[in-house]
Amino acid sequence: MANTAKGKVCVTGASGFIASWLVKRLLESGYHVLGTVRDPGARERLELVRADLLEEGSFDDAVMACEGVFHTASPIIAKSDSKEEMLNSAINGTLNVLRSCQKNPSLKKVVLTSSSSTVRIKDEADLPPNVLLDETSWSSIEYCESLQIWYAVAKILAEKAAWEFAKEHKIDLVTVLPTFVIGPSLSPELGPTASDVLGLFQGETGKFAVYGRMGYVHIDDVARCHILAYEAVGAQGRYICSAAVLDCNDLVALLARRFPSYRVPKSLPNLYGEQSYGFDTSKARALGLAEFKGVEEMFDAAVDSLTGHGHLPAVKNASTPCLF
Ligand SMILES: NC(=O)c1ccc[n+]([C@@H]2O[C@H](COP(=O)([O-])OP(=O)(O)OC[C@H]3O[C@@H](n4cnc5c(N)ncnc54)[C@H](OP(=O)(O)O)[C@@H]3O)[C@@H](O)[C@H]2O)c1
Repeated sequence: MANTAKGKVCVTGASGFIASWLVKRLLESGYHVLGTVRDPGARERLELVRADLLEEGSFDDAVMACEGVFHTASPIIAKSDSKEEMLNSAINGTLNVLRSCQKNPSLKKVVLTSSSSTVRIKDEADLPPNVLLDETSWSSIEYCESLQIWYAVAKILAEKAAWEFAKEHKIDLVTVLPTFVIGPSLSPELGPTASDVLGLFQGETGKFAVYGRMGYVHIDDVARCHILAYEAVGAQGRYICSAAVLDCNDLVALLARRFPSYRVPKSLPNLYGEQSYGFDTSKARALGLAEFKGVEEMFDAAVDSLTGHGHLPAVKNASTPCLF
């Protein structure tokens, strides 16, 4: 494990599911990390400062002290009270962080956590069979609005606003676009993503059905992609970060076979008709993510984490019958 001082970087929303893992990996590779959270009193192992996306200038001090910024903070579906709150925190919050970045003359690079939901949500006519979506693809805002997928609308508008601001103010920006992030959670608290995964192992059918065909990626690969995008001198533009794309029914079939002791649903309603898109991840691979961890490995780690934190009972999954 490298332990040389690599400079100081800021991670916004440092207590989040992805950000806390990113902080762990940055610390292990020798960075000094300054995390921002809304409630610094709640965490002890890390030096944290307070900052809120909705308060203008709130990130100034944190960003001023750093040469790199990982902007991951953004509202996630279950935590948002309303469409307006989600759009406002995502878009104006991102611009708020970038305005702080603009004030720091020593800032080298900003890595923004965007999402594959900015790439893949289009109506059937724009998703021909077996199309491989790459970083040039943008989801349709009109289509997302018609389905009231406000999270995707917020992420699309936030990323587009970030690109415009970065271009205008000559900020070196790269964006990472993870698909559904699966893996261990450092916090025992159930975040929105872990709670959807937990639901799947408890037989819930509603939440996962809405994901339809979806990409999946291990949380450690997402952290690695952020760090590679920050460190690679030639890194440019957007990076889709995804190991595999599965229809939700193929996912539950795989999980039911692998975890027979949990009540994984046998099938989920098909809400979107036939889709067969995939993702071209050659850009992330060229960055250094040659091998993504597989779907089995990421769900094994997620289940270990859920049982470890007491959210799921620990059972032997080899071929034991369903216990609950
Ligand atoms: N999870 C996934 O599958 C996935 C996939 C693709 C992209 N992403 C993106 O990855 C990023 C992190 O997501 P996550 O899954 O790690 O979610 P998470 O655990 O809910 O983390 C979100 C973070 O954003 C912070 N935040 C929200 N509103 C804020 C505000 N007004 N001011 C300051 N901080 C605020 C939260 O702080 P509090 O703890 O104070 O609420 C939390 O630390 C997001 O940008 C998300 O869109 C996630």
